[in-house]
Amino acid sequence: MAAGSGSMGCVADPAYDVVLFGATGFTGGLTAERLAAHAPAGLRWAVAGRNPAKLDRVRERLAGLGPAGAAVDVLTADVTDASSLRTVAEQTSVVATTVGPFMEYGDPLVAACADTGTDYADLTGEQEFVDRMWLAHHDRATATGARLVHACGFDSIPPDLGAYYTVLQLPADVPLSVSGFVRTAGDVSGGTCHSAIRAFSRVRQTTKVSEQRRTRESHARGDRQVHALPQRPTKAPDGRGFALPLPTIDPVIVRRSARAVSRYGPDFSYGHYALVRSLSIAVGAPVLLAGVLTLAQLPMGRDLLLRMRRQGDGPSAERRASSWFTVRFVGVGGGRRVVTEVSGGDPGYDETATMLAQSALCLAFDDTPATAGQVTTVQAMGDALLARLQATGMTFRVIEAADSASA
Ligand SMILES: NC(=O)c1ccc[n+]([C@@H]2O[C@H](COP(=O)([O-])OP(=O)(O)OC[C@H]3O[C@@H](n4cnc5c(N)ncnc54)[C@H](OP(=O)(O)O)[C@@H]3O)[C@@H](O)[C@H]2O)c1
Repeated sequence: MAAGSGSMGCVADPAYDVVLFGATGFTGGLTAERLAAHAPAGLRWAVAGRNPAKLDRVRERLAGLGPAGAAVDVLTADVTDASSLRTVAEQTSVVATTVGPFMEYGDPLVAACADTGTDYADLTGEQEFVDRMWLAHHDRATATGARLVHACGFDSIPPDLGAYYTVLQLPADVPLSVSGFVRTAGDVSGGTCHSAIRAFSRVRQTTKVSEQRRTRESHARGDRQVHALPQRPTKAPDGRGFALPLPTIDPVIVRRSARAVSRYGPDFSYGHYALVRSLSIAVGAPVLLAGVLTLAQLPMGRDLLLRMRRQGDGPSAERRASSWFTVRFVGVGGGRRVVTEVSGGDPGYDETATMLAQSALCLAFDDTPATAGQVTTVQAMGDALLARLQATGMTFRVIEAADSASA
């Protein structure tokens, strides 16, 4: 099986196509199942983690899921032992990881991949981590040819690929404006809860690191303009409910893709919102969020929040089966207006596991743009990943498209 032509990585003839780090955790276990059930024939892969007994149980479970499951190897590695991570990185084309909170555990594996020219995909939604990894490892990865692709789950593939899909429906080489509106129903795992609370407690550090990155990147900005749309609550575009600004990592990633890919046009704007149908939620959600943010600043409050969910736990199969998401986009420019939508099942876990597994396979095998260093999912995989996710049943569709005098 040929390695991805977009990969400039320098791992020569590695033993594995993909290594999944964190397979003993909740999301890692689901990702391993996706790989076992849907991997191409002949996939050379391994699961890696720190606990051999837990890994053996994962291997036994995977063996019952088809030929790829039976073919999995097991590697032992611990984030506290940098040499074990380098050994993993040296043996594979791609490492996919679910070992989070990434601010706590992520850096050594990114460093190992950047050093060895190994492609890397993770599930972080932690903006501080992504910016710190850019500052620390982007130049080295660019030199070795490693593609470092963060946020390959619900953060931030649906917004990133969805905005890209929307741009493809609009004319080229004209100013474009896109807004994304997110609706979800689902539950969160202990790992997600711990990552989010730690990120909430580091707002100041996140802002500082983001400024450092902006300063260093400002020298490399080209002529094309990319902006954030005003972030204030508005009426929902279909008139049913309200759109609240959603300051997650998603809009940051969408705008990074827009800066890197010329198809987004000479002047691109993006806004990102949560869509809520009822006034009580529109008023209550920001108040609740402000309360959680305040608690997360205090050690006692943080402990209280962290005790609400145990790491390793996550929503049951029944709960996940009734979970769903939609991200609706409104795009205007060049005299056209389009409404598109990305939708799927359980966002946080079932679809996230599929997205990470498909990202790893895409990096390993597909014909992708030639990139290196820290890159977004659109930059690294664009059309190839879009096609893969559509094939898994995730929906990308145009709902309305019309000429628009005001666009
Ligand atoms: N962006 C998204 O859309 C999205 C969606 C889902 C999850 N996530 C993120 O994914 C991460 C994992 O979530 P989760 O619920 O799956 O967490 P989890 O169940 O707690 O799993 C954490 C994994 O990390 C491993 N680990 C911890 N310390 C380690 C060490 N020193 N060396 C090696 N491995 C170590 C654990 O291994 P042991 O089993 O040995 O403890 C486990 O496999 C979180 O950061 C979460 O926010 C993001």
